Amino acid sequence: MPKPTHIAIIMDGNGRWAKARGLPRVAGHRAGVEALRQAVRNAGDFGIPFLTVYAFSSENWSRPASEVSDLMGLLRLFIRRDLAELHHNGVKVRAIGDRVGLEPDIRAMIEEAENLTAGNTAMTLVIAFNYGGRDEIARAAKKIASAAEKGLLSPDAVTPDAFGAFLDTGGIPDPDLVIRTSGEQRLSNFMLWQAAYSEFVFLPCYWPDFGREHLSEAIDTFMGRERRYGGVAARDAAS
Ligand code: FPP
Repeated sequence: MPKPTHIAIIMDGNGRWAKARGLPRVAGHRAGVEALRQAVRNAGDFGIPFLTVYAFSSENWSRPASEVSDLMGLLRLFIRRDLAELHHNGVKVRAIGDRVGLEPDIRAMIEEAENLTAGNTAMTLVIAFNYGGRDEIARAAKKIASAAEKGLLSPDAVTPDAFGAFLDTGGIPDPDLVIRTSGEQRLSNFMLWQAAYSEFVFLPCYWPDFGREHLSEAIDTFMGRERRYGGVAARDAAS
């Protein structure tokens, strides 16, 4: 199996990493941003064209207000501090998730990052922020229903491919590999549609400890897997 074109990561375990060190949760998130920085660099070095990271879920609003505000602050800081380097390295930045629910300055920063880097081709970093898979699918359905109501789209034209183009990830290939850290083994509303045929790698380490070796090992594990997409293995097809 060739190496993955698109790796998507559920960056889990910041809180437990901090707790294990007697630190406040925000310290775990800060360390998580550093691990994210390294992951982007390493994915670039390994020649991975698309990297998606789950930075804030539509369910994360239920956390204490101070933690929500810390996470918003970290996104602001990440864009402010890292955008120039990302751009310099040819990284195209895209955000997925519901922007309507975000504060106007954050929306503006996300748009600025996307516009500045739109022409870059070295690699695409997709940041899932205020993202939920069911919410994304429902918003796509709403857009489709509205286009159909206006007579712009025939219901018969709503195929899986056509539907996929209405998702926030329109134009981005499905993730080949989904990695989740911290030992939890679930999808947590992440890329429900897009992960239909993804391979999963679950790692015990907390996200702030995720380094180059972990990414390299996950890629190796992926390359050792066999994907059949509901069919049979190539070597068994003739027998
Ligand atoms: C899960 O850890 C992680 C998150 C909820 C957010 C991931 C965020 C970052 C890596 C930093 C923010 C990055 C940007 C770009 C804003 P958890 O808090 O659920 O950990 P726990 O399960 O151990 O409590």
